[in-house]
Amino acid sequence: MFEVEAIETADKTEFYRELAEQVSSMLHGESDETANAANCSALLFDQMPDLNWAGFYFLRSPDELVVGPFQGKVACVRIKVGKGVCGTAVERKASILVEDVDAFPGHIACDSASRSELVVPLIKEGRVLGVLDLDSPLVGRFDADDQAGIEAIAKIYVEACA
Ligand code: SME
Repeated sequence: MFEVEAIETADKTEFYRELAEQVSSMLHGESDETANAANCSALLFDQMPDLNWAGFYFLRSPDELVVGPFQGKVACVRIKVGKGVCGTAVERKASILVEDVDAFPGHIACDSASRSELVVPLIKEGRVLGVLDLDSPLVGRFDADDQAGIEAIAKIYVEACA
């Protein structure tokens, strides 16, 4: 059984170093993509302050994401590639950091409490598998350090689900 210890540091680099270590040991020896996404969502939601949603969308056909395991309020099930923050991240094959969702044209509001968002694509051998999506009720919750930290975690997830 994997025991989750609270991460106490106020230093973001150290926070993401410890979080990445926890994700690596939690996923060690398990390659099931659904199980690993479920536990990653739970761990991130538990450890990261000021989130109201943390979860996965998977690219189930070339043009559509379908919601996967998550923590938070009930979410939109399907998002077309190129739509919303998630679909745009797939199209661009790049992370999108939205400081204020009201300033992102086409943002899809699943939970009206969400004010900022970070979406990181899951990329394996150049192919997009889906996205990891984090929402916060605070404007400007995520910065470049969060983006780098979550990109590292997305990489650990993708490598575990070989
Ligand atoms: N806001 C996302 C939709 C997913 S929810 O945030 C869980 C978007 O614009 O793609």
